[in-house]
Amino acid sequence: MSYALITGASKGIGKEIAMELADRGYELLLVARNSYELQQVKEEIQKKYAVSVDYLVVDLSEASAVERLFTWVLEKQIDLRILVNNAGYGLVGDFESYSFEEHQKMMQVNMNALVEACHRFFPMLSGKGQAYVLNIASSTAYQAIPLMSLYAASKVFVLNFSRGLFHEWKIKGISVTAVSPGATSTSFNDRANLRESARKAAQKVTMSPAAVAKMAVNGMFAKKPEVITGFVNQLGAFLAWIAPKSISEKIAKGIYEK
Ligand SMILES: NC(=O)c1ccc[n+]([C@@H]2O[C@H](COP(=O)([O-])OP(=O)(O)OC[C@H]3O[C@@H](n4cnc5c(N)ncnc54)[C@H](OP(=O)(O)O)[C@@H]3O)[C@@H](O)[C@H]2O)c1
Repeated sequence: MSYALITGASKGIGKEIAMELADRGYELLLVARNSYELQQVKEEIQKKYAVSVDYLVVDLSEASAVERLFTWVLEKQIDLRILVNNAGYGLVGDFESYSFEEHQKMMQVNMNALVEACHRFFPMLSGKGQAYVLNIASSTAYQAIPLMSLYAASKVFVLNFSRGLFHEWKIKGISVTAVSPGATSTSFNDRANLRESARKAAQKVTMSPAAVAKMAVNGMFAKKPEVITGFVNQLGAFLAWIAPKSISEKIAKGIYEK
């Protein structure tokens, strides 16, 4: 039996990735902080699919969290084939309006936990046939985003780290894919404190988490190093690449400060 471990699987994109993988017959290990939501997701999946689902309640902003997660998985003595590092969140607003501890927690979840999970789970993933790592980046990885500066920078990190690892690990039987969703209708905006005007601006191009998850999982199994979900987001990344930085950054600032 092949297992997939998914962080941030209690809702949003992570939950839909879990659904996609259950549909393909993978046994599931889910991770998040909210045990009630994890239990709901477990029941929903098991109503639809004949796969086993177990979950661990853990806060990935805590330094020892990934070690706990690794021990939990190790004790199960399972064949882990897929690691999905999806847990993550953003903070919108003036950089100095958040405490340094708040920023540090976000960096811990978005970057450190993801890196530690890749490192710790490598021996479990390698040497037993094809394995996959799916890291969730963001459309914010393609340019600096004033008023979301640290979040966007954390996703640049995820994207470049994942692309580098793709080349390192493909000869070791592990395919690494970075997925960059754009605006997606999840609870992300609430946690990020996104203002109403910015939500409205994003509404026209917002994708469903199910659509994002399908593209992410398809891209992962196709062994793509990078997937930008949807044409609008692909165009956005291209325009950010060719446009003068001063222009793209000014436009982004306008969206988040309104
Ligand atoms: N939605 C968008 O517009 C968008 C766009 C680009 C990229 N993304 C990225 O997509 C990924 C998923 O976000 P989403 O949109 O699905 O948001 P979401 O609905 O808020 O889901 C985030 C998931 O991460 C988990 N999580 C957050 N903090 C955690 C922590 N400290 N420890 C453990 N789990 C934690 C949450 O569970 P608990 O709250 O139960 O812990 C939840 O399952 C993130 O990496 C995000 O940066 C989202």
